[in-house]
Amino acid sequence: MSDVRAYRAALVHCLDDPRRAGPDAVVHHADGLLLVEDGHVAACGPWAELSPGLAADVPVEHLPDRILTPGFVDTHIHFPQIDMIAAFSGQLLDWLQEKTFPAERAFADRAHADDTARAFLGELLRNGTTTAMVFGSVHRSSVEALFEAALARNMRLIAGKSLMDLGPDGLRDSVAGGRAETETLIRDWGKRGRLGYAVTPRFALSSSPEQLAAAGEILRAHDHVWMQTHLAESPREVAAVAEAFPDSRDYLDAYDRFGLVTDRSVFAHAVHMTDRSLNRMAQAGAAIAHCPTSNLFLGSGLFDLARAEAHGVCVGLGTDVGAGTSFSMLTTAASACNVAQMKGRPLDPLRAFYLATLGGARALGLDDRIGSFSTGREADFVALDPAATPLLARRLSGVSDIRETLFALMVLGDDRAVARTWIAGAVAHDRG
Ligand code: GUN
Ligand code: ZN
Repeated sequence: MSDVRAYRAALVHCLDDPRRAGPDAVVHHADGLLLVEDGHVAACGPWAELSPGLAADVPVEHLPDRILTPGFVDTHIHFPQIDMIAAFSGQLLDWLQEKTFPAERAFADRAHADDTARAFLGELLRNGTTTAMVFGSVHRSSVEALFEAALARNMRLIAGKSLMDLGPDGLRDSVAGGRAETETLIRDWGKRGRLGYAVTPRFALSSSPEQLAAAGEILRAHDHVWMQTHLAESPREVAAVAEAFPDSRDYLDAYDRFGLVTDRSVFAHAVHMTDRSLNRMAQAGAAIAHCPTSNLFLGSGLFDLARAEAHGVCVGLGTDVGAGTSFSMLTTAASACNVAQMKGRPLDPLRAFYLATLGGARALGLDDRIGSFSTGREADFVALDPAATPLLARRLSGVSDIRETLFALMVLGDDRAVARTWIAGAVAHDRG
């Protein structure tokens, strides 16, 4: 017997990128019906149209003051950095040394990793994030802890162990050790439940050319795994990479030589990019994780979203916690809008919503499974509360326009605006 449930509420989701497909790409039903069958979307449309066809025994939950959206997709976040979010330091390279590496050393302890994994996934779900691409620490067991916790919650999550044979004391692997641990994790976890594995060279300054070459070989050998890394985040980092890889045409090229630029590759930041490297990313089908709160926090720079997209590069949004300052993809979307304003190329709120949902799913190559309410998609979704705070309630009182509503939720909302989160049709968080 199949499990069928119906939800009556306002619904909003994207069928395509509104930048290319126009406003019709965003579907809004002020009074909608979402039908979920065995953890998948069976139907989505106006209540008045679909409800007459509902079987009498299908339970209907009426959520008149909620807006249902697909679960948010965070294309870049660090699991071992949850407890050092909001740590004051300098820019990227200083922050890594002073705050980040000491925190990641603690993940050699499996019990610490287990405990943190539960808190980390709880925080994602409280914020309505149902899929994330996640950096683990250098320790294999940190990723095992995360995968185990994600499997128990049936989450669609991609993660990988950081490869860093040039890392600091206590956080170094070796070319052979990193390769063996990555292969083991791919074998043990890469096809389990809704999990996926990402080969994870931390960045060009923490892996030797030999380790980057090994990462490329692993990526080539397994067509079901992803690759995640950092790219052109801060000016000092870019200069150091140019020195470390004198033969490379630019930062991206340092990865490209080792086969790391593919349509399964996600590069975080990409703030300081040459036209050549943006063209190359577009040609390869590689994606950028735009991490606005992190780029502001570390003073890394203002990502030019319009420029990257004009080159044809696929972009998703990433929180990049712990350099990012919030787990909330609403807050991250608002930050992306702010940065776009600074660049003089405003980001439409409906596009920001797209980037936080279907756009993120596309960046991860998962848009055939998640990111929208199209029939057959996995039923990962959230109920947003447009009256979550007194200020939101005042601001949105009498507002029916979905663009205006979503923008206010981004600017004024955060985890407080997420009333409930469902994973594959089951409630995984309820704000109460
Ligand atoms: N570059 C290399 N490692 C990191 C990290 O942990 N966070 C950020 N923001 N950039 C990085
Ligand atoms: Zn990062």
